[in-house]
Amino acid sequence: MTATIIDGRAVSEIMRKKMRSRVESLGLRGLRPGLAVVLVGDDAASQIYVRNKAKACENVGMHSEVFRYPAETSEADVLQKIAELNEDPRIHGILVQLPLPAHVDNGKVLEAIVPHKDVDGFHKQNVGALVTGESNFPPCTPQGVMTLLDHYEVAIEGSNAVVIGRSNIVGKPMALMLLARSATVTVCTSKTRNLSQFTEIADIVVAAVGKPGLLTADMIKEGAAVIDVGMNRLPNGKLVGDVAFDEVKEKAGYITPVPGGVGPMTITMLLANTLKASEMVADGEQAARRATA
Ligand code: GUN
Repeated sequence: MTATIIDGRAVSEIMRKKMRSRVESLGLRGLRPGLAVVLVGDDAASQIYVRNKAKACENVGMHSEVFRYPAETSEADVLQKIAELNEDPRIHGILVQLPLPAHVDNGKVLEAIVPHKDVDGFHKQNVGALVTGESNFPPCTPQGVMTLLDHYEVAIEGSNAVVIGRSNIVGKPMALMLLARSATVTVCTSKTRNLSQFTEIADIVVAAVGKPGLLTADMIKEGAAVIDVGMNRLPNGKLVGDVAFDEVKEKAGYITPVPGGVGPMTITMLLANTLKASEMVADGEQAARRATA
């Protein structure tokens, strides 16, 4: 079997097209969605991600502002900026690019963002709401994976799904979202012994560890949907995921390439969450006007 290649760029474009018309509708109501991105330090990958996020906003007609700070910026200064953005009516979504420098407390910074502008879905209130299925802002990468599975009509309900990786950004929310759709979910980690005993019975495998070549063809079931969230730069400069793509694509039913699979979807879901945050503000203002009319 040769797998259907899941095209994240194409699905992203379909979604962005729909978003452009929602942005236009908001414009008619006098509101332009705005995203603020805060970047502290000079991590090379983060610089690229942030540039791409700002470009994507422009691409769908949203406003974006990037605030860049040197690595030695104090935690207090970062918190001060977030406090300002929380109050700024032009800003509907706030994203603090991770990782932050070691002297800045991740948790403190993420908790400082007001939950209704937390378009990354990393605030504890939104993380908790994800557990009960009530989150307005599901984290972007796993939300992108779910969207891809749905677009290609991969059956989730009743499936055996294996998530490899237990990060707060991908692995844990991914497991919760699959569980919410009635998959039987197993979460493995980079330390799992005999990983293939879990992956070889999986209908859906999501690899999110950051280890090139982690998942090989002998480890998967014929026809499985294989989703690669890994992003690893090899010494020769090539970008690869966690899946041995060339061999796994000959056995899987569906597979995401790296690049061009999950990556573009992460940014598109960030736009979707920002748009949702803006629509919530517009609807809230309208309701308030009606109440006082
Ligand atoms: N760093 C790597 N992935 C992400 C992400 O999804 N959001 C943020 N804020 N930082 C990241």
